Formats: sequence, structure tokens, C-alpha cells
Amino acid sequence: MTIASPIETRGDGFTLSDQDFESIAEFAHKHFGLAMSSSKKPLVSSRLARRLRKLNFTDFKSYLQELNGPNADSERSELLSLLTTNVTQFFREPHHFDTLRNDVLPPLLERARRGDRVRLWSAGCSNGQEPYTIAMVLKELCPDVEKLDVKILGTDIDPVVVRKASAARYSAEELSQIPREYSAYYTLQGQEGTIREDLRGLLTFGVLNLIEPFPFKGKFDAIFCRNVAIYFDTPTQQKVWHAFQRSLNPGGYLFIGHSERMSGPAAAALQTAGITTYVNSHAGGNA
Ligand SMILES: C[S@@+](CC[C@H](N)C(=O)[O-])C[C@H]1O[C@@H](n2cnc3c(N)ncnc32)[C@H](O)[C@@H]1O
Repeated sequence: MTIASPIETRGDGFTLSDQDFESIAEFAHKHFGLAMSSSKKPLVSSRLARRLRKLNFTDFKSYLQELNGPNADSERSELLSLLTTNVTQFFREPHHFDTLRNDVLPPLLERARRGDRVRLWSAGCSNGQEPYTIAMVLKELCPDVEKLDVKILGTDIDPVVVRKASAARYSAEELSQIPREYSAYYTLQGQEGTIREDLRGLLTFGVLNLIEPFPFKGKFDAIFCRNVAIYFDTPTQQKVWHAFQRSLNPGGYLFIGHSERMSGPAAAALQTAGITTYVNSHAGGNA
């Protein structure tokens, strides 16, 4: 009988030592803000083993060397994709879109009709279902919204999902998550469909790592960052919440995921306005 060593996990023919796991966890924390406890070791081992085999690496150490070398940007993105999930769906956590429709957008659209600029941000947007859902609700309330200065930004650290989001093509199964009353906002051809052109025009997509300083000059009126910070440790979460709070206009909204909690300096400036929903009570400038 073979008893597995407590410090080594076998992943499909590769052995992940505690030291290699620590190095990968350190790398993922430094570059992506991810918090990986040792309970993640079997998962990391099996997911990375497949990647090592595909790239013809013989062990985890040489893979780590590659990740730390120059020109490793695309492999770093691959690693992030392996360590996190891109699971998302249209109208996910629908109560947030009720708040958007009933409380957030009406005053913003009134301001936009008077010539003001309105900016909404889906941070960690994965394949784009979240920002397109925001666009559908916007369009429902204001059918000629493209004539106003209203824009939605969708960003994610993973360039693969950002490409999919920009392409706006989804399977019939993915599109079936959209409630019937919004079915006019996409066209279905066989087993695939596309989000309507006028909605797509409201959106811009980009690659952005949320643990790095945000590159924006202007502020946002609403930020959705849901089911992203769940991967971060508490200090990183608090840093990101604070950066969002400082990026919001006074009265701006922040929506976070169902299993995430607000804490740190941002909590003092954000008032609860519903389930995992916050309003920036700070009058302006940096909190
Ligand atoms: C589970 S999806 C959430 C998608 C969407 N917000 C939702 O709630 O349906 C998590 C996304 O966060 C992204 N992500 C993870 N770490 C990130 C980081 N440091 N900066 C930006 N995005 C990150 C992942 O690439 C992934 O697409």
C-alpha cells in the first residue's frame, strides 16, 4: 500500500510539493490578488498538471520559472483562468437589476437628458453577461439612450473573456437566461445568438487588473463588482472596495456579490441600500 506524502500532491503524473504550491500561491497573490489556502492544493495540482503536459513542462519549478520570465503575460492570464472561474449569467442576482431599474437609473437618466454624463462599470465582467444585462435595463427605461452621454464599461483581468464579451455572441442556452420581456434585445440564429447592435454601442470593454491602480480620470455612477473579490484575501478586498468607493460620484452605487462582505475604510463612506448594495455617502474628493 502507498501512503501519499503529506507534503506532496500528485496531479496527473506531476508532483506538487508544498514549496512549489507556496510559490504558485505567492505568485497568484502578488499578480492577481488571489488568496489560496493549502486546501486549494489538490485543485491547483490537477488543473496545472494538465497545463504543464500541454506545454511540455516536466515539473512545476520550470513552469514557475517561465511565469516569472519576460513575455509571460499570456501564460499569466492562462494561470489566472485556471485558478478562478468565469461563471456568470444574464440577470444573475436579479434583485440588483430591480434596484438599478427602480432606484439608480431614473435620476441618472433625468440628469443625462439635461446633458450630464453617466458612467456605469461592470468590474470583473467575465464573458459580458453582466454589462449586457445593465444595457438591457437601460434600454428598457430609455429607448433612445444612445442619444445621451451614457456609457457602460466592462473590464476583466482575463483577455479571453474580454474578447468573448466584445464579440457579444452567446449560445442559445446562455441567452435563455434572459427573461422573455427582454428577448427583443438579441437575435437568435440556430444554436447561437448576438446582442443587438444598438445595445452593443453603449458598451466598451477592456482588460484591467483590479488590484492595480485604476487608470480612470472620471468617476462612476454605479459599479458592479460581483463574485470577484471572493477570490481575494481581506486586506486586498478592503483595498479594492476603497478604490471603488473613491471612484464613485457622491450618491453612486456599488453592487457586490451575494457571498461578499463590505469592510475596511470604504465601509465608513458607504451606506447600505439593500442586499449587497451600497450608496456612496461621501460628498466628493477622496475619502
Ligand atoms: C465568477 S466571475 C464573475 C462575473 C460577474 N461579475 C458575475 O457576477 O456574474 C469572476 C471574474 O473575475 C475575474 N477576476 C479575477 N481576479 C481579477 C482581478 N484581479 N482583476 C480583475 N478581474 C478579476 C475573473 O477573470 C472572472 O472573469
